[in-house]
Amino acid sequence: MEHSTKLFWALVLCVAVMAHQTTALEILKGTNPLIGEVTLRGKSLIDKVCTLSPSRDICVQVLSSDPVKSPNANLKDLAIISLRFAATNASDILTDAKILIDDDNLDPDVQQGLADCKENILDAESQLEDTIAALMVDSEVDAQLWLKAALAAIDTCDASIPGDDDVLSVKSAIFRKLCNIATAVNKLLVNPTKL
Ligand SMILES: *[C@@H]1O[C@H](CO)[C@@H](O)[C@H](O)[C@H]1NC(C)=O
Repeated sequence: MEHSTKLFWALVLCVAVMAHQTTALEILKGTNPLIGEVTLRGKSLIDKVCTLSPSRDICVQVLSSDPVKSPNANLKDLAIISLRFAATNASDILTDAKILIDDDNLDPDVQQGLADCKENILDAESQLEDTIAALMVDSEVDAQLWLKAALAAIDTCDASIPGDDDVLSVKSAIFRKLCNIATAVNKLLVNPTKL
């Protein structure tokens, strides 16, 4: 064989070996969490996240609610989906509160309680928007603080309406669950090793 031909085949062999090694590494990355991370997405990630949630069924319902993003969502997408869901739910509660407040037959104390609750849910709603904004710029710690504020607002709302079986109390309990789901997803975002 001519010298240049030998060199050519040596090069081909070398490239082939390198290509093979890269593939082997890629395969390892997909299976061995110590070498590369296995990144769950979409439904398998949702299932995994929700096994850690005390309200598993609602968690799956909420995180699967975005027809475009849910099927291939990563953890950050899921955090945003849960927050949007909670914020929409908050506006729903506000509508109810407004209708209730307009009832002239209500005891003035109850009416005042409802008005306070309405203010607090309004705060919670804007704190959820702030949480989303914080996540968009990857400041998970700020996001957690805003979420805490939102949860505190719901507590204040609950405390201002007497009883727990009226429409508003039932809905605010659901809203609290939604915020807790968002908090859980956000915590995982800060500390994914818990997954
Ligand atoms: C609020 O959350 C509940 C429970 O997940 C859900 O059934 C309801 O459709 C939500 N409402 C809105 C307006 O998103």
